[in-house]
Amino acid sequence: MADDTFKKIIAHSKEYGFIFQSSEIYDGLSAVYDYGQLGAELKNNIKRYWWEAMVKLNENIVGIDSAIFMHPTVWKASGHVDAFNDPLIDNKDSKKRYRADVLIEEQREKFQQKIEKEVKKAAKRFGDSFDRAEFERTNQRVLANQEKINIITNRFQTALENNDLDELRQIIIDYEIACPVSGSRNWTEVRQFNLMFDTKLGSVSGDASTIYLRPETAQGIFVNYLNVQKTGRMRLPFGIAQIGKAFRNEIVARQFIFRMREFEQMEMQFFVKPGEEMQWFETWKEKRLKWHLALGFSADKYRFHDHDKLAHYANAAADIEFEFPFGFKELEGIHSRTDFDLNQHQEYSKKKLQYFDNEEGKNYVPYVVETSVGLDRTFLMILANSFEEEVIDKGDGKTDTRTVLKIPAALAPVKVAILPLVKKDGLPEKAREILNTLKFDNNCQYDEKDSIGKRYRRQDAIGTPFCITVDHDSLIDNMVTIRHRDTMKQQRVNIADIEKIIDEKVNMKNLLKQL
Ligand code: GAP
Repeated sequence: MADDTFKKIIAHSKEYGFIFQSSEIYDGLSAVYDYGQLGAELKNNIKRYWWEAMVKLNENIVGIDSAIFMHPTVWKASGHVDAFNDPLIDNKDSKKRYRADVLIEEQREKFQQKIEKEVKKAAKRFGDSFDRAEFERTNQRVLANQEKINIITNRFQTALENNDLDELRQIIIDYEIACPVSGSRNWTEVRQFNLMFDTKLGSVSGDASTIYLRPETAQGIFVNYLNVQKTGRMRLPFGIAQIGKAFRNEIVARQFIFRMREFEQMEMQFFVKPGEEMQWFETWKEKRLKWHLALGFSADKYRFHDHDKLAHYANAAADIEFEFPFGFKELEGIHSRTDFDLNQHQEYSKKKLQYFDNEEGKNYVPYVVETSVGLDRTFLMILANSFEEEVIDKGDGKTDTRTVLKIPAALAPVKVAILPLVKKDGLPEKAREILNTLKFDNNCQYDEKDSIGKRYRRQDAIGTPFCITVDHDSLIDNMVTIRHRDTMKQQRVNIADIEKIIDEKVNMKNLLKQL
């Protein structure tokens, strides 16, 4: 069912100009996507929501835009040259390559799903008197699955901590994990594979040196820490935000725009006094979850997940996971990165990257709490939450289905469609008059083709919160019909009031004020 919905979302994205496969006329490039005319609008709106939440609402956060190419030593210092690896395993029959850790995590998730199934069954059976905690403590099948989860988690954590690739393989063998494509259990050894793309800088071959396409935007912030701190006269705690492209030679590049080889990140590094990082880590976890929840989708679809294995730079890390149509997966990471990055850059660049604390009268290297969310994953989260196939009762005993994207109004690619009932009698002119007043604040569409019902459906399918219909009476009484996407309710309003009605719903302020 979920798989089916996911396929529909992918098809819908293409059909309505949200997302296209890159270089499609050449049969596409794997795990690379282009955003179409509506996708680009939605993406820009998400970026604006994030940017304003960070930079506008926090007087101690500023934004930058650093280059994709950086000095190669940056990646040596950051640890990416030596440690930005994935443990990979190949299936000998299907010739497909997988991340060993992902295979194991999926197996663990299967045990969890079995528990959830038992709980759901029991909840139905016992009704209001159901006590989940008690049930989980006593039910034999739940306990057996929990035991399995504990054992696999322990082995997995230990293998990751010790970088023990043989043990990772052994877990896959012991749990009889099969290749999702061939169903076979014929696996190779597990090997490490660096995810950075490299290229050459300089046109003369002798001068050429290897540089990397950045795998995260964060390093552009770290190397500019002192520039921003000094020129912006920033005092701790303060943050630097950035939105930009990142590149990873992902192996398990499936699931549409969930895992891409070229993607965008929205990252913020928050520089704090050493010792205060845990308190800020908790604060940013809460603030970031609030940002997601303000979109108005069901809170049940989000959860925190603490990392089993900390990255080489972190002393605490948590993900905000979202229940995508293919299960709960990482949407955003919040990491306490200590002073690792700034220290490393000090060491490799031989330049001091310190902060003078007036109150303490001493210099130190700040600690950093990072929030890092994928723009494309946020886009997919919004599509998955918004996509609905609604069965509508037509009143005559018949039903109809409408496909609607219930995108939060402030993020919708098109805010209002202006529709003359017929394309004659002065109605198009009146409609364009309205469009010409609304277009300065809102992305509008004008549509005069097909029946009004069909035009409403087209706008539902792209998530337009408002349709305005201009009819013959409008010419006389200066009133129009405004139709609301989610309720399909129609309201007769004065043309002079339209701007206010729309603004009350679509203004980004509505989201920002909840934060
Ligand atoms: N600077 C820290 C960092 O890059 P990460 O957990 O590797 O941490 C942060 O990535 C976020 O970037 C993820 O939560 C995800 O939303 C997004 N992301 C990472 N790899 C991605 C990929 N291949 N395709 C799309 N989004 C990705």
